[in-house]
Amino acid sequence: MYKYSVSILGTGFIGLCSAACFADKDIKVLASTHNEKKANMINEGKAPFYEADLQEMMDDIKANKPELLQCLLDPVKAILETDISMITQGTPMREDKSINLGYIESTAREIGEALKHKDSYHLVVVRSTVVPGTARNLVGKIITEVSAKLPGKDFGLCMQPEFLAEGRSIEDTLKPDRIVIGEFDEQSGATLQEFYEYFYGDHLENCPILRMNLESAELVKYGNNCLLSTKISYANEFANFAQLVPNVDIVQVMKGVGLDYRINDRFLGAGVGFGGSCFHKDVNAIKAWSKSKGYPSRLLEAVLDINDDQAIRIVDMAEELAGDLKNKRITLLGLAFKPGTDDMRQAASIRVVKELKKRGIEDIVGYDPKANETAEIELGSKIAYAGSIEQALKDSECALLITEWDEFKNLKPDDFTKHMRTPNLVDGRRLYDYDLFIKSIPFRAIGRINLE
Ligand code: UGA
Repeated sequence: MYKYSVSILGTGFIGLCSAACFADKDIKVLASTHNEKKANMINEGKAPFYEADLQEMMDDIKANKPELLQCLLDPVKAILETDISMITQGTPMREDKSINLGYIESTAREIGEALKHKDSYHLVVVRSTVVPGTARNLVGKIITEVSAKLPGKDFGLCMQPEFLAEGRSIEDTLKPDRIVIGEFDEQSGATLQEFYEYFYGDHLENCPILRMNLESAELVKYGNNCLLSTKISYANEFANFAQLVPNVDIVQVMKGVGLDYRINDRFLGAGVGFGGSCFHKDVNAIKAWSKSKGYPSRLLEAVLDINDDQAIRIVDMAEELAGDLKNKRITLLGLAFKPGTDDMRQAASIRVVKELKKRGIEDIVGYDPKANETAEIELGSKIAYAGSIEQALKDSECALLITEWDEFKNLKPDDFTKHMRTPNLVDGRRLYDYDLFIKSIPFRAIGRINLE
């Protein structure tokens, strides 16, 4: 028997990883999606996307307790058969870069439809990243409009932001640093806290639960992603300073900065810039939101500009090293937005290709250990795709390291000399031993320029 039943409305990274982790700990989960293919896969125990440890967890559930994780095409049924509903739908970026709350709105309507027919208390938890005011003014209001039920009385309403990073979704779900609960009222928050006390047990000794109002919790998530993005742009700004002074190394500088107990050195890695489905989307969303309220953010504008300009900087460095790149073959090592994934959303490689093309450079070959296929969907015939590092370097006159995959980490100067026409290398992620490479081949790295 199970103590809790939860419907998870949305089956992306947050939704499916939570669903699997809950079911794994004997909570009954009814996930729901409108995508039939996805639902079938989940019901067959197959993860519809790659995420470390997810498939293993789903195999285990399928073998030992398949009844605890099911995926329905009918959200109303999923909601009616559970006590807690979690909204985990995506909140993509609109063309004008503001947040698109369309999926959240339609899910709130489905919850309203279900609650119309339910008399017992039901807890609704928003776990998608949403701008302040969404849980109360959109989700809560729509549910009441459709069901005539009242938040704080007939149903509970919480906002619980999610901090999991791709590639670590399962680990982050099982071992969060903290749990933030935004609550409409005391009962809503207490009900969710109780659920997490059951789910996390002893882990809560090292993981505080923070309770606050809905809007504060919504802003925590943006506070997090914006600060992480700011740290990266800050490191990149200093990498650009470092390149103004010979023999200064940004890696050492940020290590020195990060050892301050008030700072820490995580996300101070300078490079060709951040990408992924979250940072651009969220920084833009909160920027557009604050502007709509009469406060345009100068800080976040700079964070995005500095980030996206790193693509121009790395191409400048390549041209300083190898001369005019027109009519030369250029190699991109790594295309995904970070190692460990085939995700190409907002990847730095896209901006680098755009900059190369702008300068009339046509002969570009890319290679990524996992993302060649997704890159082709994104970049099409703008570049050619190599099946191996060797093939990617063949006849090339300049290589740009874009994504720091382990496979690239092991390359030695000789590998570049052996395969390339001229072994020019620009390290866009500070992956290589600077002193070794600068001695061996024509080499540049973000955040360090040595004088001979
Ligand atoms: C990010 C956050 O880390 C999560 O906490 C958050 O929950 C998630 O967004 C989300 O909002 O859903 P994610 O986008 O999966 O997670 O990936 P990160 O590991 O944060 O990396 C983002 C980008 O920053 C990558 O392109 C990476 O290469 C870049 N990065 C990271 C740097 O350029 N320098 C660094 O020092 C660290």
